[in-house]
Amino acid sequence: MSLALDAAAQDLLFREAQTANTFTDEPVTDEQVQAIYNLVKFAPTAFNQSPLRLTLVRSEDARKRLVAHAMGANGPKTLAAPLTAILSVDLDFHEKLPQLFPHAPGVKDTFFSEAAVREVAGTQNATLQAGYFILGIRAAGLAAGPMTGFDFAAVDKEFFGDGKQKSFLVINFGKPGPDAFFPRSPRLEYTEAVTTI
Ligand SMILES: Cc1cc2nc3c(=O)[nH]c(=O)nc-3n(C[C@H](O)[C@H](O)[C@H](O)COP(=O)(O)O)c2cc1C
Repeated sequence: MSLALDAAAQDLLFREAQTANTFTDEPVTDEQVQAIYNLVKFAPTAFNQSPLRLTLVRSEDARKRLVAHAMGANGPKTLAAPLTAILSVDLDFHEKLPQLFPHAPGVKDTFFSEAAVREVAGTQNATLQAGYFILGIRAAGLAAGPMTGFDFAAVDKEFFGDGKQKSFLVINFGKPGPDAFFPRSPRLEYTEAVTTI
């Protein structure tokens, strides 16, 4: 009653949506990924810094190179997924701030001249964007399987040799396959998670 979003959309994005562990063979097209990106790009980041970069893993060769750095069941899951994305932070995101934050282009140098500051801010904001991306995948009628169980230092060496991009999440996505979902685990109740001061 208190939400503006209709009940079907609430179900699609949250109540009925679950993390998928298996997928059908149905391909995920570049057009679908573009539609997802062009929706979720409008969600906010600090100074509009937009530090998330997505690397779509389509070729067999790239998939094998990625899976070599997966932990446990994440390897076979990733080999069987129709599409996989490596999510990384652009550690030089500040170079694009004059384009992305044109009314105050100086923040590139005043706030973000130090690499250590950029890494903290970039990681925080790219992680937010990862959440938006998962919801965008659901908005496209697909299911996502996000995974942090990878050796990301090794993934970076494998794919981002120049040290300017730092991976932090891998997401398999597509139409959910047989037995795609684990039973839903409980969530914290409102009173457990929310305090008013
Ligand atoms: C950031 C993140 C990292 C995760 N890493 C893994 C992983 O490495 N392997 C795995 O099997 N599941 C992984 N998961 C899946 C979670 O366990 C799952 O999303 C959570 O239990 C909620 O499940 P539900 O969507 O079915 O309710 C990850 C999820 C997130 C959001």
